[in-house]
Amino acid sequence: MNLIKKTALHGKHMCVATGLALCCWLGMGNTAYAADTRLAIEHLGDGQSIVRIEHPSSYLLLPVEEGVEESKVYVIVNNEVIKNLNVRLARKQVDYFVPLSLQAANGQLVVVNVQLAPGGSICWDEMKLSDTFDTTNREPLRPTYHFSPAYGWMNDPNGMVYKDGEYHLFYQYNPYGSMWGNMHWGHAVSRDLLNWEHLPVAIAPDALGAIFSGSCVVDSENTAGFGKGAIIAFYTSASERQMQSLAYSTDNGRTFKKYERNPILTSDQRDFRDPKVIWHEETQRWIMVLAVGQELQLYSSPNLREWTYESSFGEGEGAHAGVWECPDLFELPVDGGPQKKWVLVCNINPGGPFGGSATQYFVGSFDGKRFVNESPALTKWMDYGKDHYATVTWSNAPDNRTIALAWMSNWEYANFVPTKQFRSANSVPRDLALFTRNGQTYLSSTPSPELLKLRDKATTTSSFKVARTHEVNTLLPQPTGTFEIELTVQSNGANVMRFALCNSKGEEVEMRYNLLDHHFVMDRRKSGQVDFSKSFATATSAPLASGKTFTLRLFVDKCSVEAFDGKGGFAMTNLVFPSEPYNSLRFTAEGGAYTVTNLKVYPLRLP
Ligand code: FRU
Repeated sequence: MNLIKKTALHGKHMCVATGLALCCWLGMGNTAYAADTRLAIEHLGDGQSIVRIEHPSSYLLLPVEEGVEESKVYVIVNNEVIKNLNVRLARKQVDYFVPLSLQAANGQLVVVNVQLAPGGSICWDEMKLSDTFDTTNREPLRPTYHFSPAYGWMNDPNGMVYKDGEYHLFYQYNPYGSMWGNMHWGHAVSRDLLNWEHLPVAIAPDALGAIFSGSCVVDSENTAGFGKGAIIAFYTSASERQMQSLAYSTDNGRTFKKYERNPILTSDQRDFRDPKVIWHEETQRWIMVLAVGQELQLYSSPNLREWTYESSFGEGEGAHAGVWECPDLFELPVDGGPQKKWVLVCNINPGGPFGGSATQYFVGSFDGKRFVNESPALTKWMDYGKDHYATVTWSNAPDNRTIALAWMSNWEYANFVPTKQFRSANSVPRDLALFTRNGQTYLSSTPSPELLKLRDKATTTSSFKVARTHEVNTLLPQPTGTFEIELTVQSNGANVMRFALCNSKGEEVEMRYNLLDHHFVMDRRKSGQVDFSKSFATATSAPLASGKTFTLRLFVDKCSVEAFDGKGGFAMTNLVFPSEPYNSLRFTAEGGAYTVTNLKVYPLRLP
């Protein structure tokens, strides 16, 4: 269907009065005007078109259809490409619009050169100029206290750094569609890890490539020479090859300048990315950890600009069924005592314990040159859900805290989850610590204390026994799908203690403590929409310490359930897409009875 007004003119001189603008130029070819007659469009055949915008508004709103191939869009001012992007320009139906900013044209004529978009596509009629772009939330499943982008696609958290009271969150961002592509660093700041202010894109693609994942540090001693207290960002410039680049900000992250000598680190390896930079106090040098194929490489530097290779880690260690990505390295006290150990985090995709993406880590020692894993025979996972990836920690966090954030999705289906205006959210922030179990040191993830500020008044249910089944019918008087549950169960003979979050549509997330095989399980096979991917309908399980009494904190936020063992023994993060909020709990006992000694439901809302 081609709705373009058939005002095509062949010939030399065309003038079309729009009432708003006069579009006049000399040209050849087939010119048509979109429904927005300020756009003059010439189709040149073979999917090539030129759009002329005589008096550009702030944005050109591009209609997107997710199921189609990407078109290439070049924004040209005075013969120079000022921006190029790939966008799934709608062929037959419009799923949503994305804004292409024309502000950099400063009112001059903009020529948009479009490739790979057939002339008969609906996009030509639907694209329009606008001075505004409405980011009001239109999605019932958008989380409230988890960070999600105002619109567009997000994957990995990047460059997380704390400075002057602000937590900065950068993230892998596609502003031109809710699927992966056109990687930028999006940016948001928060003072409490709960309320996030969306800021303009921090780092945009350039001639060296797209802007892949990386990290930031505060250069308090001006070792790099960009200024005392500058925020220095390290990211991967990704094109045919991947290289590390640097950008710096001397205005608390509000603007970044790319270093003129980029790239700062190159390689002939195909997968060479995701720089995480830390300060190593003992050797007084900066350390960069990079994901390189299926290993991690460590580099050192006195000045953040010149890097020396130190060592590689990975052969024969941990899981190897996928590419290693997004590393992190930090030191933590063991069991809260004086002894400290180093933790090397390594995200892997695919090859996670439940398929696709997951976060593994190694515990050991690091002398500024080499990391040594103290238990090479063990693979340790940071989270036992299916939606916990690209986990990294905040640099320079206050009070010696190590605060982690994960991207709450999985590459197996991230591009297809049933949201549109935005796609993907992050996990809740978690404070990391080390604990000992059976002689091994493990990482615990505890919801960051800031999350307590979300709690409204709890509904407390007094202790009850589950002989067979027991229902708690109304969790919240207004079912919002945003709450925290605190639960303590104690077995009085039961060997399986089940409980399910349910809604009135028969959708449920079933969880269970299985004391026979010592596992905690979360099953989302009946959680709501599951059929957008073959691998979504599944259950995940975490090893459980032995015992009869267990405490759990459950965070529910529209489309996610995060379970935290009360003692830090496990964390489990899973997405769910119910057609209405879960608002009741069904308890079931097997092999005997159990008692729910504590059940508190806190409505959660942003302070
Ligand atoms: C991890 C990852 C990174 C890469 C980024 C690209 O999810 O593949 O390795 O830098 O995403 O968006």
